[in-house]
Amino acid sequence: MPTGSRSRGPPTPVVGVAGLGYMGLATGLAFSRRRVRTVGYDIRPELRDRIRAGKTPIYEAGLPELLRGEIQSHRFHVVDGWADLVHGADVIFLCLPTPRGPGGRIDLRPIRQGVREAGAALRGGTEYRLVVVKSTVVPGTTDGVIRPLMERVSRRDSTTLGLASNPEFLAEGNMVQDALEPERIVVGVSSARDARLLRAVYRNFPAPMLIQSPTEAELVKYASNAFLAVKVTFANEISRLVERVGGDIDRVMESVGADSRIGSKFLSAGPGFGGSCFEKDVRALVDRARELGISWGLLSHLSEANRAQTHHATALVRKAVGNLRGKSIALLGLAFKAGTDDVRESRAFPLATDLVLGGAVVRAHDPAAVRNFRRVWEQTPPAGKSKALTFCSTVEECLRSADVAVIQAAWPLYRTWPERWTKLMRRPIVVDLRRAIPEPRRHRGGIGWVGLGVAAR
Ligand code: UGA
Repeated sequence: MPTGSRSRGPPTPVVGVAGLGYMGLATGLAFSRRRVRTVGYDIRPELRDRIRAGKTPIYEAGLPELLRGEIQSHRFHVVDGWADLVHGADVIFLCLPTPRGPGGRIDLRPIRQGVREAGAALRGGTEYRLVVVKSTVVPGTTDGVIRPLMERVSRRDSTTLGLASNPEFLAEGNMVQDALEPERIVVGVSSARDARLLRAVYRNFPAPMLIQSPTEAELVKYASNAFLAVKVTFANEISRLVERVGGDIDRVMESVGADSRIGSKFLSAGPGFGGSCFEKDVRALVDRARELGISWGLLSHLSEANRAQTHHATALVRKAVGNLRGKSIALLGLAFKAGTDDVRESRAFPLATDLVLGGAVVRAHDPAAVRNFRRVWEQTPPAGKSKALTFCSTVEECLRSADVAVIQAAWPLYRTWPERWTKLMRRPIVVDLRRAIPEPRRHRGGIGWVGLGVAAR
């Protein structure tokens, strides 16, 4: 066994992390910070060099400091090949991407490739290795796809090779905290030996470990994301009623969520959920259920309900300005939520598309996500409208002479909304899809403030 660090009791196994993207890097660094020796590997050489130089490849609060600290600690280091990874670690976490493939299914090619490489590097060895699938995969994948492939390529069986599932629950913008202080650690194992190994690697994490089968653990991940997406969609649907019957969705949901059976989190109405996970995971779960002949009433309509909420957001803008044609619109917030530069499934795309197709001219701003948004937008601009959206580097530039400002992501900067911003606009209307501007500022200085989920006064 590679020598692990020794705290109390037997040495802690060495952890290997394959895939140093968003999740792998945060996961590896969290192990390292929790005094577990960790080696990381990614197939992209330039990414490995960047990380070694202490530079994070993504925008994520707290990650640069964590990376620099762990490199200095010498507990975390990056290796240059699969062989170094699998021979240098006892427990290897696969943190490889599972993007949406054709037809909405998850694309297992990156995982299969990783498993083949890891399996080939493990061939011939006799020391026990535990391979843990952290990537989100549909229930049954670890036992039904990854295990047979790994065993075949590595020519090992359960006497020297373990396969386990350990889904992650990291939310972007909060990854460091979620990785260092998880609320629960869910592991799916097939043997007591593997459970012991995982207990040992997570020894220094102050969280309960919930042990089950690999398929159950995979299901926990999907069910958790689907449930959170349902909560958000529920708040979104109630918000449309609040707009009509009177009131403020946040006050309503605060009281609803005060019932501990419901809980207050993920009840903040907005333009619909985005991000790389909710839509992809719900679709994959619904597809799997459908394949098995299960017809769901709630989950199979979730994506559609989410799209309806984004169209409702556009309708609010249209109502605020009368007609979109020729209007100048400041779109504030392009990331799928504040605190990240990630634009995957951001509601800013369908929103901007609806606005430009309605004849508006859009100027867009985001404190971190302009580059990512621009790259995607420029690849697929709505037909004939490639020039209808431009990007600004300051909020002021974006607001100058605008007919309406639309807040799509609640960045702290937008929450400050100073009166001078209102004065820059041609018509001082703000459609606040996240109720980002605090209540006392909403009607100050002559703003016509329209809040999603808030009835007009
Ligand atoms: C989500 C889960 O929260 C993580 O636990 C999970 O690990 C991750 O997916 C994943 O599967 O990898 P993430 O996609 O980073 O994390 O973002 P969330 O904070 O969950 O937000 C998702 C979307 O819902 C965002 O567009 C956000 O704006 C929206 N949302 C969230 C609301 O509109 N209202 C809320 O109250 C909460």
